[in-house]
Amino acid sequence: MQICRSIDSLRDQLADWRQASKTLAFVPTMGNLHAGHLKLIEEAQKTADKVIVSIFVNPTQFGPTEDFSRYPRTEADDIAALKAQNTDLLFLPSTDEIYPAGEQTRITVDRLSALHCGAFRPGHFSGVATIVCKLFNLVQPDLAVFGLKDYQQLVVIRTLVRDLNLAVTLVGVDTVRETSGLAMSSRNRYLTPEEHQIAPKLYDVLCQTRCAIDAGEKNFRSLETQALLKLRSLGFIPDYFNICRSNDLELADFSDKNLVILTAAKLGNTRLIDNIYFASSW
Ligand code: PAF
Repeated sequence: MQICRSIDSLRDQLADWRQASKTLAFVPTMGNLHAGHLKLIEEAQKTADKVIVSIFVNPTQFGPTEDFSRYPRTEADDIAALKAQNTDLLFLPSTDEIYPAGEQTRITVDRLSALHCGAFRPGHFSGVATIVCKLFNLVQPDLAVFGLKDYQQLVVIRTLVRDLNLAVTLVGVDTVRETSGLAMSSRNRYLTPEEHQIAPKLYDVLCQTRCAIDAGEKNFRSLETQALLKLRSLGFIPDYFNICRSNDLELADFSDKNLVILTAAKLGNTRLIDNIYFASSW
């Protein structure tokens, strides 16, 4: 596996592969890799000749009171996992090169960035859109692979790619879950053992709400209120629980067919997000 720590070395290697007509797939990450990330790499390997992974803990997507400084950085373990997965190239840029002194440009996908997580994390999706746009410019991949656990993030990136006419195909990969149903996330390591027992109930409440919709419940706002009450009774402090249209993430009603239920909730000091997407069965 090649490891490129500078933009110049990345560009040199990618130029060789393009010259040799290799197709390139890209998996951007913030490191602390788990089975969910490895599944993204496996998907990328199915469709491209070369797979490039980046690890960059992006400061602009963290708010001032969020966990940027304590976000888990596990470079040696990540390199070992990527080598074992036969990754072709790891891009590990420095913050100074990605955000040069005096930088002042941001990409914002207006409406989508204000919804759901965006309402609770001002600036977060602008930071995500900016770093993803920079990384796409640097790597210029044929396709890029993202986890559907961050469903809103993927819709933001899809919109960015469409609006800026970027020539990259996006692939979304299903969430990898622990046997308990808890969605895999680098932030799960912040959970205490007791919280780890409660955390899978976030997915249970999503599944119960989906079942109620499948059984014909048409009052989505009432389902959201019931879910919020249930989460509070289980010990979560929910930010939101919203039944949305899966394409534009606006609140759905019973006439909408393709749905995603998005939720975020704090458990102790850890903020968990999860979702479930489905076509309604009536
Ligand atoms: O999903 C993530 O890990 C990050 O938001 C991403 C897409 C790598 C941008 O920093």
